[in-house]
Amino acid sequence: MKNKSNILVIGGTGKTGRKVASKLTEAGHNVRIGSRSATPPFDWDTPETWTEALEGMDKAYITFQPDLAVPGALEAIEELTKQAKRCGIKKLVLLSGKGEREAELCEQVVIHSGIDYTIVRASWFNQNFSESFFLEPILEGFVALPQAEVKVPYVDTEDIADVAVAALLNDEHTGKIYQLTGPRLLTFRDVIKEISEITEREIVFTPIALPAYVNVMKQQGVPTDFVWLIEYLFSEVLGNPSNAEITNDIEIILGRKPKDFIDYVKATAATGVWNPKMLA
Ligand SMILES: NC(=O)c1ccc[n+]([C@@H]2O[C@H](COP(=O)([O-])OP(=O)(O)OC[C@H]3O[C@@H](n4cnc5c(N)ncnc54)[C@H](OP(=O)(O)O)[C@@H]3O)[C@@H](O)[C@H]2O)c1
Repeated sequence: MKNKSNILVIGGTGKTGRKVASKLTEAGHNVRIGSRSATPPFDWDTPETWTEALEGMDKAYITFQPDLAVPGALEAIEELTKQAKRCGIKKLVLLSGKGEREAELCEQVVIHSGIDYTIVRASWFNQNFSESFFLEPILEGFVALPQAEVKVPYVDTEDIADVAVAALLNDEHTGKIYQLTGPRLLTFRDVIKEISEITEREIVFTPIALPAYVNVMKQQGVPTDFVWLIEYLFSEVLGNPSNAEITNDIEIILGRKPKDFIDYVKATAATGVWNPKMLA
């Protein structure tokens, strides 16, 4: 294949990374997964592992763990971009969070790295309800969350992956910052209602104040760093009215409409992941 690239996909078995990796492989590119379980291993907590993963690669898709807002993310992205430059990486595509001030500081590091870049700022993912922390309460049939009235333009990881692949492969996206949202605003109550209707299961939604939610997590022994992140996401990200704006970047980049939440719900329900029997 002409113009075959070697592309490192950091977080390449995760919610967006595994879709990016499979789309690139299907298109004939040489993909290396960057993750703790990959060979060679890539661990965000061990910068000594990064160069081996970057060596021989032309481009990289970066998903940071657990979130670009956490303390230490900025230093990690600074070090990663330095190592990437030394390894001759020609293009970086950074997955970032829409409306996260701390993440924007990390974006600036990539923007000023001297390497071609595209920043992909995403709204909250649909897949948080099937592949992440909202799955368990849905399986239990009882979802209690703060910011119950806030409307979120959830975006699908399939759309994010298509945009990331376009950004990795086409120069027209170099130097751009994209803001990705889905086509519809939903509250948590709306989300649970749609999942409940399609799965034909009773799932109760109860609003809860943020301090009470934080206390519950602490009582359940959730690690302090994770509690901090969740509190940050619920207050800073969901509390920021500009995050409720719907953008049309996906349609502009991909020439098609973004996936609606209900189509995600229908496809996900069919996989059985919301069947309570899945609760171990
Ligand atoms: N969820 C949302 O709504 C949302 C919205 C906007 C932006 N984001 C951003 O999305 C990013 C996460 O992307 P994602 O959801 O696609 O990934 P994800 O599903 O959270 O990532 C899982 C992947 O990361 C790897 N991983 C986990 N810990 C690691 C570590 N310490 N070092 C190296 N690799 C590690 C995992 O493989 P191993 O276990 O093998 O290491 C796996 O490949 C975050 O930076 C977040 O801020 C998320």
